[in-house]
Amino acid sequence: MYVCLCNAITDQQIKEAVSQGDYTLADVKKRLGVANQCGKCAKMANNIIQTQLAFE
Ligand code: FES
Repeated sequence: MYVCLCNAITDQQIKEAVSQGDYTLADVKKRLGVANQCGKCAKMANNIIQTQLAFE
């Protein structure tokens, strides 16, 4: 599903970023550009990152 509508970024892309070593929202933002416009996706993106880290 799309998490960041401004940049068309999916939850799968965020999970893959975590798998590649991104551990914070700032890291994922740098890699994918998530939450770099309206910012409404930041909380959900962070939740996905934290959940994915629990499985890593
Ligand atoms: Fe992600 Fe707007 S929805 S920056």
